[in-house]
Amino acid sequence: MSTIKDVAALAGVSYTTVSHVINKTRPVSEKVRSEVEAAIRRLNYVPSAVARSLKHQATFTIGLLVSNSTNPFFSELARGIEDTCYRAGYSVILCNSDDHPERQQTYLRVLLEKRIDGLIICSAGDDLGLAEHVREAQVPIIIVDRAVKGVTADLVQVDHLKGGYLATRHLLELKHKSIGCIAGPDTTSVSIERLNGYRKALAEAGAPFRSEWVVMGDFTAEGGYKAARRLLKRTELTAVFASNDLMGIGLLRFAAEHGIRVPSQLSVIGFDGIELTRYFYPALTTVGQSIHRQGEIAASALLERIRKGGEGRVRRILINPELWVRESTVAPAPFVLSRHE
Ligand code: RIB
Repeated sequence: MSTIKDVAALAGVSYTTVSHVINKTRPVSEKVRSEVEAAIRRLNYVPSAVARSLKHQATFTIGLLVSNSTNPFFSELARGIEDTCYRAGYSVILCNSDDHPERQQTYLRVLLEKRIDGLIICSAGDDLGLAEHVREAQVPIIIVDRAVKGVTADLVQVDHLKGGYLATRHLLELKHKSIGCIAGPDTTSVSIERLNGYRKALAEAGAPFRSEWVVMGDFTAEGGYKAARRLLKRTELTAVFASNDLMGIGLLRFAAEHGIRVPSQLSVIGFDGIELTRYFYPALTTVGQSIHRQGEIAASALLERIRKGGEGRVRRILINPELWVRESTVAPAPFVLSRHE
């Protein structure tokens, strides 16, 4: 493998000049720059990232810790983060906690050992040690999507309560009276807030909240499918708010397999706004925001913190959710046969 010295010899310049060309640390003439670049190409020289980080006291690497990147929510989020970091010359290391606090803590340590310049975390819900780890981390950190109790760091998230409220209000405005909910795991703040939004809309409309109309899922499509099995025993329900899109998709599958027609017999609304939901049949009505954009916002906030050396007051960037009405929600038909007939 060629070294920086080989490049210098071939280009007929000093080792330091090559370093200035690579690191853009000092202006060099156009002629010298193109000779050095030609030598780099000819020798297939790959600069050492380790040497570069020692020189700059930075690795130009960002850690991204999410719960489960098989959920398109996280892949779309990661893509927004990566695109922004790439433009700024940073690479991203992605780790999945699988919503397990121990796994999350292991990855946190591994990422810090790699001397990342900053970290974006979408935390496992019940990681009680996270606040302390964030305090001790000594790198700028952004919490995205899920607020975590006691953690003092910038937070970027959609207004989950408002999202749950908008979803339920949409169903109420369509004149649904019996509205079920598949909530997320009660260990994550977002599940609780979305459920609170559901309750708020019901209360405001004077509609009943019935605990037997709420079942808990795990934010996966399979979890949504299983939750639907329990929830749809309640044949009086004419609509369901699934508190994330994947669970909504699981519910659609269960309904199709059991002869429940969506939306004529059952309206379904999700949460998140993952791209895929536009292509389902029926296309899923949902509440969300551009997830890619959320990623961009989180990455920009982190890069800004890195630039300022971590200084500045802690911010909460709250993104306004939008209602995206598609095909899976309609008014209940006046004379529908009940679902078990
Ligand atoms: O864990 C999955 C969920 O958490 C996503 O669907 C998104 O809603 C996030 O908050």
